[in-house]
Amino acid sequence: MGNLLYGKNSNLNIQKCGVIGCGAVGATSAHTLLGSGLFNEIVLLDINRKKAEGEAMDIGHGAPFVKPVNIYAGDYSDLSDAYLVIITAGANQMPGETRIDLAEKNVKIFKSIIPKIVEYNKDCILLIVSNPVDILTSVALKLSGFEPSRVIGSGTVLDTARFKYLLGEHLGVDSRNVHALIIGEHGDSEVAVYSSANISGVDLDEFCQTCNKCGDRESMHQIYEEVKNSAYEIIERKGATFYAIARVVKRIAQALIRDENAILTVSSLVEGHYGIHGVCLGLPSVVGREGVKWIIDTPLDENEEKQLTESAGKLREVLEGLNI
Ligand code: NAI
Ligand code: 2OP
Repeated sequence: MGNLLYGKNSNLNIQKCGVIGCGAVGATSAHTLLGSGLFNEIVLLDINRKKAEGEAMDIGHGAPFVKPVNIYAGDYSDLSDAYLVIITAGANQMPGETRIDLAEKNVKIFKSIIPKIVEYNKDCILLIVSNPVDILTSVALKLSGFEPSRVIGSGTVLDTARFKYLLGEHLGVDSRNVHALIIGEHGDSEVAVYSSANISGVDLDEFCQTCNKCGDRESMHQIYEEVKNSAYEIIERKGATFYAIARVVKRIAQALIRDENAILTVSSLVEGHYGIHGVCLGLPSVVGREGVKWIIDTPLDENEEKQLTESAGKLREVLEGLNI
């Protein structure tokens, strides 16, 4: 891939990204992106400038072992030609805290960050990772004034990965052959789509009956609880989650830059799907160079659709309570 220019005015460097927030998630994502070969320039920003500088040095010293990348601590003006701006800034959960509990603090931070990005770059794609990610995707959409296709949250891509991983472990098959989705809020109201889950085309229920590796359907449903509570369990043990989300960030960046039309459960504005309007949440979406190209109406059973509607209702309630 050459030094491609991209965007309405061809002023964006497709191989340049910014990472705002250089804590555990931002630094691990930058480290993962450095090794990905996707970018030739990575700008790190943090309210704590020294932290951004230290991470740029530490991550950058690995550059001789990967495709050449210029990684440095910069300012908002350095984002003017970045194709992708990833936001991981803000508070993370303390043990027992929910993602929604972070909303007020992190909305305040977004109110200071988003206008500064827009001042220098009106054409980039925003990838929101900070929590509560669906709420902050809606907030970023409103504050930026960007078209909805270019404001993307990491959504339930991480939860879907956890679901596939745990189902794969449970069934004794490679998680890459597990096709199953988590949709809705990245959080406590997320929805497991068991009705269409399959192992290389074999319906999950059917596979379960024949594989002799698992118990009843009920035990399979416990996997949903495990997925939903993964972050709580990890935070309880090590204080934060950052490795798997860094892989998620890389996967989404890859789908965007390579114009893959990959189907990922990112969060974006939902208008009309399943009767939901005006909130961002995770649904299977076709992701390519212009961002979210379209959202897929994946079949849901009655109960899953009800849970999804409730998840959207919860997010709407939180949004209405915020002063944006
Ligand atoms: P952290 O506390 O390690 O890092 C946050 C960083 O943001 C700090 O370096 C801080 O200085 C910086 N920051 C704060 N205000 C800023 C501002 N106005 N401008 C620039 N930088 C600012 O937190 P961690 O663990 O990196 O988590 C970051 C966020 O990512 C949290 O909200 C967390 O909940 C979320 N997260 C989301 C995941 C997802 O699946 N969407 C997965 C894991 C974490
Ligand atoms: C996670 O699910 C905390 O949202 C973060 O790992």
